[in-house]
Amino acid sequence: MILVTGGAGFIGSNFVLDWRAAHPDEAVVNLDALTYAGNRENLEALRADVGHVLVHGDITDRALVDRLLAEHRPRALVHFAAESHVDRSIHGPGAFMKTNIDGTFTLLEAARGYWGALDEPSKAAFRFLHVSTDEVYGSLGPQDAPFAETHPYEPNSPYSASKAASDHLVRAWHHTYGLPVLTTNCSNNYGPFHFPEKLIPLMIVNALAGKALPVYGDGMQVRDWLYVKDHCSAIRAVLAGGRLGETYNIGGWNEKPNIEIVHTVCALLDELRPSAEGSYTRLITHVKDRPGHDRRYAIDARKIERELGWRPAETFETGIRKTVQWYLQNPDWVQRVQSGAYRDWVQQQYAA
Ligand code: NAD
Ligand code: TYD
Repeated sequence: MILVTGGAGFIGSNFVLDWRAAHPDEAVVNLDALTYAGNRENLEALRADVGHVLVHGDITDRALVDRLLAEHRPRALVHFAAESHVDRSIHGPGAFMKTNIDGTFTLLEAARGYWGALDEPSKAAFRFLHVSTDEVYGSLGPQDAPFAETHPYEPNSPYSASKAASDHLVRAWHHTYGLPVLTTNCSNNYGPFHFPEKLIPLMIVNALAGKALPVYGDGMQVRDWLYVKDHCSAIRAVLAGGRLGETYNIGGWNEKPNIEIVHTVCALLDELRPSAEGSYTRLITHVKDRPGHDRRYAIDARKIERELGWRPAETFETGIRKTVQWYLQNPDWVQRVQSGAYRDWVQQQYAA
């Protein structure tokens, strides 16, 4: 079996659902603190699946992690759990340091203890896969080459600094203790179960509610976008064949300015759920920019293709259509995640 952390969040829940479909013979124990971003409902399809166990707990709880490793004896630990929203990290960085740095440290130490006591074949087979972000590399100029795995770390936000710190810990536990680690650095994901505080789902749910579509600054910040199922298949490929101690950059070869993303979402909604009041583009509103906003991220994903034969299956056009359709088909999920705490966040972030 495998132990997954953060498997009730956006990417983690997609990963767990895909894993159970791809590996019906291999169970998943899913450790998640169920913060505002974690949602049992994302895993509803696994309700009757005895091969999935959700454990409500914190990755900084060493005794709990030790117990889960001892009881379930996983052959791999796939680590998604994190505080993941840049804007929240600007308002309150403390939780990011605790989960992303202390939490990763706790998992590494627990994994080291468990792995060190395994018999030789199990020891050789064990993997600690750390899921990270392209944001650790900082910001690119318009003409710069995309981020390769050798790019220097230049994190600019509390979120990316905490993820960079966790990447360094993972690297050090390999070099110092020989822990069999793999690290993936991925670009911006989108798709089902994406919490509507991030750009794409926020634009969809606001448009459907007739609310403003808040574009930070001039909207010309560039991100590389990857459909979440492609991220999941890339992680499976790295887990299966990645070289120990290596990092793999994962991207969609889809660099787009934010304003173009927002126009694409509006065009799809105009087609699939037209509004009597005219195109959703009327709701686009430029608002104050994010402090320290990174201008451009881009991923050079040639290493994972060369070594592991992975390429994304979706283009941006196919992936964004599926995503908009998913939100249109799941209004109850959207309504339930827009709880009181969600409204408080929107009020705090967008009131001005
Ligand atoms: P998310 O915020 O949607 O989910 C995070 C999950 O971790 C939630 O289920 C939450 O309850 C859980 N969690 C938080 N703190 C915890 C703790 N202390 N103990 C146990 N569980 C805890 O995040 P996501 O977008 O699914 O991102 C998953 C991972 O992928 C993160 O490590 C993130 O840095 C990385 N990543 C995300 C993106 C992206 O575009 N979303 C891109 C690249 C990398
Ligand atoms: P986000 O989804 O928060 O991801 P990240 O900051 O990790 O890239 O934001 C994606 C881009 O969209 C980023 O450049 C910030 C911008 N953005 C807006 O313009 N308006 C918004 O309301 C949000 C949430 C993001």
